[in-house]
Amino acid sequence: MSARWIAVGVLMTALALLVGCDRVIEAPDTATPYTLEIPMGFPQPLLPADNPLTEEGILLGRMLFYDPILSADSSQSCASCHSQEFAFTDSGKKFSVGVDSLEGKRNAMPVFNMAWNKRFFWDGRAENLKVQSLLPIQDVLEMHETLPSVVAKLQKELRYEEAFKAAFGSKKVTSEKMSYALEQFMLTLVSGNSKFDQVMGGQATFTAAEQRGFVLFNGESNPNNPIKGADCFHCHGGTLFSNYAFSNNGLDSVSADIGYKKVTGSEIDHGKFKVPSLRNVAITFPYMHDGRFTTLQQVLGHYNGNVETGSPTLDPQMIGFVHGLSLSPQQISDLVAFLETLTDETFTTNPAYATPF
Ligand code: HEC
Ligand code: HEC
Repeated sequence: MSARWIAVGVLMTALALLVGCDRVIEAPDTATPYTLEIPMGFPQPLLPADNPLTEEGILLGRMLFYDPILSADSSQSCASCHSQEFAFTDSGKKFSVGVDSLEGKRNAMPVFNMAWNKRFFWDGRAENLKVQSLLPIQDVLEMHETLPSVVAKLQKELRYEEAFKAAFGSKKVTSEKMSYALEQFMLTLVSGNSKFDQVMGGQATFTAAEQRGFVLFNGESNPNNPIKGADCFHCHGGTLFSNYAFSNNGLDSVSADIGYKKVTGSEIDHGKFKVPSLRNVAITFPYMHDGRFTTLQQVLGHYNGNVETGSPTLDPQMIGFVHGLSLSPQQISDLVAFLETLTDETFTTNPAYATPF
């Protein structure tokens, strides 16, 4: 036999083993397909082709999201740091505390409209939610558990045997199936029914202050322009209130956290972070990757005159901020009033997103 045929043989055996090991994850015919509701004005989402949404997959993901069994001492669930009431952030904490009482290094991110995101975490190190969802479980500063141990704990519970069978066809628990289910649940967390959306849909009206803030938010900062703009829409524009790019908005002249450089290895990405969506921003305080600002007024104080212009990786779109936006106190409070219209209470109280237990 030639070396080539031996290679083909080895490959076929490997493939057969993979399939035999339950590596192909598919919903059984009995599972109920789920159609994601897309709010008015939203673009088409980026749903993963290998993980179609089903009612059973979403329910399993929701159980896992709310179950402290995923952590080393069964004390902490995903929801401990991602609370629905605060648009799935950590209840106003600057840094979250893991099971060993150790503080993390970044501010917990909100979890909504994930189906429109391209990469995950502040530095974008997870390319999809399947990869993302298994990392906090194993993070020593977070749930500090091992995957084999979680799998063994889940396998002992009848309710999980049933839930895994309903979602993926067999009772066998695997970490891959966990990640598929968590991805499905997180993809269903959609927020698109704030006062802003109601105004756009003609069912509500802005107050005068909100309207002025809306115009500022979407206006170009140009000294020759009689209508003052605050340039926010360049990065936080559109119905998603983010372009989901990685960008340096001038917080530090040299960022202590390398940010997106972690993914690309390139110096031009030093200190760039994922542009956060500003939906629900009034309830996702504190702000920025390190939670340095407690209030939206402080955030606007940064944009209005404290942008670090010396940083070599500063976003070129921050050019309008270099000499300061010189917004008046009135204009700052108008912008805050507008940002407060982005809170979506139907999202933070939707029973489908709450604990299933
Ligand atoms: C101890 C607190 C803590 C726990 C527990 C935790 N997270 Fe997080 N989560 C964070 C922090 C902090 C970040 C930002 C980390 C970073 O960017 O490095 C984050 C980021 C995320 C993101 C990225 C969102 C985005 O827009 O990119 C998702 C999704 C997420 N977590 C889901 C989960 C899931 C699922 C679990 C449970 C398996 C979980 N988290 C458990 C604190 C936590
Ligand atoms: C060049 C792109 C860019 C522009 C322009 C911009 N931002 Fe940002 N914004 C970012 C990035 C990137 C972050 C996250 C930075 C970090 O954490 O290091 C951010 C963070 C924020 C946050 C914190 C959100 C959170 O969840 O932590 C708020 C609020 C915010 N921006 C509001 C605004 C407003 C209001 C304007 C207009 C005055 C504006 N931004 C202009 C890129 C931009």
